[in-house]
Amino acid sequence: MASLQISDLFVKVENQQILNGINLEVPQGEVHAIMGPNGTGKSTLAYTLMGHPKYEIESGQITLGGVDLIGMATEERSRLGLFLAFQYPVAIPGVTVANFLRTAMNAHRKAKNPDDKGVPIPEFRKLLTEKMDFLKMDHAMAGRYLNEGFSGGEKKRVEILQMAMLQPTMAILDETDSGLDIDALRIVSEGIESLKSNALGILVITHYQRMLNYLKPDVVHVMVDGKILMSGGPDLALKLEKEGYEWIKSTDAA
Ligand SMILES: Nc1ncnc2c1ncn2[C@@H]1O[C@H](COP(=O)(O)OP(=O)(O)O)[C@@H](O)[C@H]1O
Ligand SMILES: [Mg+2]
Repeated sequence: MASLQISDLFVKVENQQILNGINLEVPQGEVHAIMGPNGTGKSTLAYTLMGHPKYEIESGQITLGGVDLIGMATEERSRLGLFLAFQYPVAIPGVTVANFLRTAMNAHRKAKNPDDKGVPIPEFRKLLTEKMDFLKMDHAMAGRYLNEGFSGGEKKRVEILQMAMLQPTMAILDETDSGLDIDALRIVSEGIESLKSNALGILVITHYQRMLNYLKPDVVHVMVDGKILMSGGPDLALKLEKEGYEWIKSTDAA
């Protein structure tokens, strides 16, 4: 089983120390949640995992299935099975959701086999229909331009669809709950929940506990000031929701 392993990770952004020694292991088949107050470095961790050039790794290790990710281009990481969904997905003018997904799928196939001719259209359509039905999405969505005029909920649903199509081994979902109304949140969370499998590890990064009402994490980690201060079961999320983040800073573990 491949796992995402982060050890002693120190990261700087614009010469500012943000991550102060992160240790974390997310095995395939498990859902882990990172919670923490605003500005604590959660998105910094997500961007660092993606390989964003602005985030400077000073020391530490990041591996996926034993393969070193540091220094690897974002595309390469994605082909290795890492999937990142972001807080503010961009609009790509003139590219439909279906085309975007087919291009992404083909890039993955080609990375695995350079002779691959791309997914045949009928096979792609069948898979797309299947996954859209599974996620209870309107088929018309596939023909729309990516993220153009999409509501927060629609953007997120397309991200989950992309995840369903690419079948990653490790998915990092940063603030997937932000900007969603309660129905959209439920649908997206249930979509993610439905994709859970032994072959997929999920790291959900969130400020709020409410998403975890639908998406049950195996482990909850609390990040404060660029460090994991505490890890525990699902009940830790509930305790945080009730007590707030000040509570964790005042405990012995902190
Ligand atoms: N691209 C960036 N440029 C400058 N500062 C950044 C950048 N990204 C993050 N930071 C700073 O790093 C800190 C952590 O931010 P972030 O990782 O977004 O926290 P969170 O996601 O936990 O709210 C903040 O002080 C933020 O201002
Ligand atoms: Mg953030």
